[in-house]
Amino acid sequence: MLAGKERNHQRRFTMTHDSALVRATLLYFQRPSIFFMSKKALTANQRKQLERAATKVMKNAHAPYSKFHVGAAILLTNGKIFSGCNVENASYGMTNCAERTAIFSAVAELGPKIEIQAVAVTNDQGVACSPCGACRQVIYEFGPDATIFFQGATGPKQAHITELLPEGFRLQ
Ligand code: THU
Repeated sequence: MLAGKERNHQRRFTMTHDSALVRATLLYFQRPSIFFMSKKALTANQRKQLERAATKVMKNAHAPYSKFHVGAAILLTNGKIFSGCNVENASYGMTNCAERTAIFSAVAELGPKIEIQAVAVTNDQGVACSPCGACRQVIYEFGPDATIFFQGATGPKQAHITELLPEGFRLQ
């Protein structure tokens, strides 16, 4: 049995720690990505420009099988924008997603020393569409600090690449 003074002390200790935990939990779930914030944030104009580039290239998609047209645009840290669409194949597994098309065309033009600052993904059906697992890994290769803009289940969303791909693979 604890003495009154000790009991009070213990109660105060538990309350302090409980409310700190509650606050941290709330902060985590309310986060506008404070735990995953990119070093360099985009301006509203840059974001709009990136989304426009993604929407424009979406019209070139070759998607006769899924009928799902996707466009992606990447902003590099040197300020350049590259875009790409999905390119499907009768042998379905050969399909290339819009995100990888954009990244591969940037590498083809500038070489491998590029850094992706942000990626925007759009689709012609206005449905939720975040980069697939394979594309997340490819984005991570060239953009370990990239911000991804995409359509979420309840509207436009943005996320840090490590939020979409925790523990991404890197060859040491
Ligand atoms: N697709 C993309 O291009 N990007 C995504 O982020 C998700 C899916 C394409 C692949 C395929 O051509 C079609 O969407 C349906 O999966």
